[in-house]
Amino acid sequence: MTATAANSPESAENPAEPIELLGPELAADPYAGYARMREQAPVVTGTLLGGPPMWMVTRYEDVRRVLSDPCFVANPASVPGGGMDDGPPVLKQMDVPSDVADLIAKAMMNLDGAPHARLRKLVSRAFTARRVAEMRPRIEEITATLLDRMAEAGRDGAPVDLVESFCYPVPIAVICDLVGIDEADRPQWHRWSRVLSLMQAEHLPTILRECADHVLDVIARRRAEPRDDLISALIEAQEEDGDRLSDREMVCLVFTMVTAGHESTTYLLGNSVLALLERPDQLELLRADPSRWQQAVRELMRLGPTQFAQARYAAEEVELGGVTIPAGSAVVPLLLAANTDPRKYEDPERLDVCRGAGSHVGFGMGPHYCLGAPLAYQEAEVALRALFDRFPGLSLAVEREELPWALRPGFTRVAELPLLLG
Ligand code: HEM
Repeated sequence: MTATAANSPESAENPAEPIELLGPELAADPYAGYARMREQAPVVTGTLLGGPPMWMVTRYEDVRRVLSDPCFVANPASVPGGGMDDGPPVLKQMDVPSDVADLIAKAMMNLDGAPHARLRKLVSRAFTARRVAEMRPRIEEITATLLDRMAEAGRDGAPVDLVESFCYPVPIAVICDLVGIDEADRPQWHRWSRVLSLMQAEHLPTILRECADHVLDVIARRRAEPRDDLISALIEAQEEDGDRLSDREMVCLVFTMVTAGHESTTYLLGNSVLALLERPDQLELLRADPSRWQQAVRELMRLGPTQFAQARYAAEEVELGGVTIPAGSAVVPLLLAANTDPRKYEDPERLDVCRGAGSHVGFGMGPHYCLGAPLAYQEAEVALRALFDRFPGLSLAVEREELPWALRPGFTRVAELPLLLG
């Protein structure tokens, strides 16, 4: 499709009905739905949560370009002369009050250029390769404890829900250890993240206020008594940071790290276990040579759970996939469509744990490439391997068709995974 500068996702030149990213078509079968969009055109139209139509980018090379070309910005306010507000328009759409909207609008994924680089640098020190490698024994310990509890719960052949008993508790324990959130406070973080990931407008202001108060309280405690965690490191960095990191910015960073760092990893674990149970031949390959796990988690990540990245905004008029995109337009990179693009991967929807899938875009790419990717890979490798080693006879306790799926903005995941431990 070629379009003119006057073109917009709603225009008559773009006649196809926009696809709702959280609608039933993509929920029922994301691979098929994204394949249809990808084969329809490199750039199609779609909506998110019933908002205005946006450009959706469906193919691998174009998605990489949107994620890495400075023509596309993450903050609508970075569009020169665009007169747009800070942060995702969905905040306005959902009526999020201004006293808390900054916790999302000023999160690093919604900033560009120097303000983005400054925040990213401040937290990067907690996610260096060395720091992640140091976490490995702790991840092994957390995993082993949870597997013991599961063995107890499933002792008499009772089904165990893997999501609740394993996929959720592993990542929340790891990220909270790293950031400095005490064990007693973790359940409330789970509740807050859930409201956020479901974009429940009516509860959002309350949970953001509760969360900000809580983080300020933890900051005060760490100031009095520092520990080896991210919050203490940020307090130390306040002194070094030329722009003086404010407490409010620190709240925003902590909120970003804990929420970004656990639910997504929960989804990766649940979806991966299901994928491997459905492909015993692939599990066999891993059993035969456990050194393949490192590569396998890259392939599992390629095939899910990420569906799309945050919208980007064209900083100027730009040609993409044969479409002229006007300055200021929202453009959504469809990561799952890119990761299953046959132009890039042979037989793309087939799980192949021996495939070199490192080039996938499931963690995004460019300046906003997932800061926690090395940690998420390590968690998945340790947790999945330990799970299948401990319970070699693991099987689904219900029919595959009975499994409940949940769509979250950006992600798809199995919501419950009842298993027999064998
Ligand atoms: C399997 C688990 C994970 C998935 C699927 C995932 C996915 C993503 C994706 C797709 C992006 C790019 C968003 C965009 O460009 O619009 C991203 C960014 C980010 N992720 Fe992750 N992530 C995971 C784990 C983690 C963990 C464990 C952490 C924290 C330790 C984390 C922290 C972040 C942060 C802070 C960003 C924003 C980076 C920036 O804007 O510079 N993520 N993640």
